[in-house]
Amino acid sequence: MLHGKRVLLIVSGGIAAYKSLDLIRRLRERGAGVRCVLTAGGAHFVTPLSLAALSEDTVFTDLFSLTTESEMGHIRLSREADLLVVAPATADILAKMAHGRADDLATTALLATDKPVLIAPAMNVRMWNHAATQANLRTLESRGVLRVGPVEGDMACGEYGPGRMSEVMEIVAAVESFFADRSPLAGKRALVTSGPTHEPIDPVRYIANRASGKQGHAIAAALARAGAATTLVTGPTHEPDPAGVTVVRIESAAEMLAACKAALPADVAVFAAAVSDWRIAAQAGQKIKKNAGAPPQLSLAENPDILATLAAPGNLRPRLVIGFAAETEKVVENAQAKLKRKRCDWIVANDVSPATGTFGGSDNTVHLVTGKGVEDWPPMSKTDVAARLIERIGMALAERA
Ligand code: C5P
Repeated sequence: MLHGKRVLLIVSGGIAAYKSLDLIRRLRERGAGVRCVLTAGGAHFVTPLSLAALSEDTVFTDLFSLTTESEMGHIRLSREADLLVVAPATADILAKMAHGRADDLATTALLATDKPVLIAPAMNVRMWNHAATQANLRTLESRGVLRVGPVEGDMACGEYGPGRMSEVMEIVAAVESFFADRSPLAGKRALVTSGPTHEPIDPVRYIANRASGKQGHAIAAALARAGAATTLVTGPTHEPDPAGVTVVRIESAAEMLAACKAALPADVAVFAAAVSDWRIAAQAGQKIKKNAGAPPQLSLAENPDILATLAAPGNLRPRLVIGFAAETEKVVENAQAKLKRKRCDWIVANDVSPATGTFGGSDNTVHLVTGKGVEDWPPMSKTDVAARLIERIGMALAERA
């Protein structure tokens, strides 16, 4: 759910700081990267060492540390995060935030950031109820600062009332719902095919192609990061499973088609697999022997076209169907013809002539062919192609909603 998200956790001085240790673990379990800033007050309750061990990252404490400034800089620290979480947020840090004070690293990062901020206040009930704190909160909330808690309960100081920091899982839920709300593809279902297919000749041999699965896997990862419930149907590759994606491994085109059908319905389907056009017409049940005289004649049969099958009009047709066209000549013309023939909405056309190094390489030069025209994208990494494509998918699904 939080894969690839970067959280800057600011731990200020309150007894609830011990809960922040567990917060780091829970956020990281869900795939978020957590980097911590510890205030001087916070350091009375938890040590930089425990935060560093749990976050597996440097803990930043000192505004005027030469190492911090030379390696990182307080401005970059907050800019590199997707969300700043202040937990616990004391009355003091809320007051500083409300008034734009910046007298330590935490408050400087908070003032320097243009990123969203979530606070988890924790303080004595009288401090919470004080008109000054309430006025500061109104100021912060009017600026869009998000808040979780505090909750009512027994306090470490022996009093009872609102002021306890929310439980860790409530803070995690607030972080998750923040990202879910902002995910352009939240609530959408996506299907991606990737890799080559292996078409068996006999139990030990197969025909295949050179597809690496890099592009398809990157697309599945980007869809999942954008919040889509993503199924990746993949032929054999050396690529690791993308985080947060349901991976279905298959070998042949027939298996890929069945797995794709089983993954429907979907809002968007991206067919990046290099499906073998043919299979062996009659697969041998036993290993074919070399010494049987003349070499065997392999007779081929056409494989089902998975893209064309799923792009055909019907109840289960995904709203947006995207095919790939790996071409070695007349890249755009061939892609335009393919768009019509296969009845898909877009074709991502790429030149795979050996000189481009696209097959198995990390970069790709693609043309996005749609009913409206052709966009030539500059050369970029396959990860960037995926990110850009997902941006376009988000826009298209919003238009078609
Ligand atoms: O016709 P061609 O194989 O060049 O088309 C490529 C596109 O069609 C890709 O999106 C590929 O994933 C898809 N395809 C398919 N099933 C096939 C052949 C191609 O889904 N049997």
